[in-house]
Amino acid sequence: MKIFLIGFMGCGKTYWGQKLSRKLQLPFFDLDAQIEEKEEKSITAIFNEEGEEYFRLLEKEVLYLLTESHESFVMAAGGGTPCFYNNIAYMKKSGTVIWLNCSVDCMYSRLLNEREKRPLLKDASEQDLRSYIKKKFSDRKIYYEQANAIINNDNPEIDALVSQIFHS
Ligand code: S3P
Repeated sequence: MKIFLIGFMGCGKTYWGQKLSRKLQLPFFDLDAQIEEKEEKSITAIFNEEGEEYFRLLEKEVLYLLTESHESFVMAAGGGTPCFYNNIAYMKKSGTVIWLNCSVDCMYSRLLNEREKRPLLKDASEQDLRSYIKKKFSDRKIYYEQANAIINNDNPEIDALVSQIFHS
């Protein structure tokens, strides 16, 4: 069983992914953390030193490597993972894709003090952040919507999450 959690930055992919993996007793992979380990650099350093295009190629490579080399897992994708190189189709072909569809207000409050860890947000002022999230989120929805199941809850209960996955 391969479960991919997707959604915009701040929707809780890593948080719920870890919970889900414990509940289902499956290994957990955080795609960003795996990329950092492979490159021995932070995501911010990769963006700064190599640029976004390089990061997106690396993201795809690590997504494929992990997916091909493991039978079962829960994976927290990066916010942009499903939006590049048809990764969404690859994830759906390989397993079940769950979109954590969190409200803009909730993502805004979670991201406000987390900007420096995210290269796409680091230059956004407090005032600009909400409109940046709104715009980018609406551009990306077309990819997120292709998930097999959609969780419309900012703070889903783990049991509800599990039952939605198994009924998708
Ligand atoms: C990105 C989201 C980040 C990380 C990178 C780019 C994006 O992951 O992959 O900074 O394009 O939305 P999180 O969604 O885990 O913050």
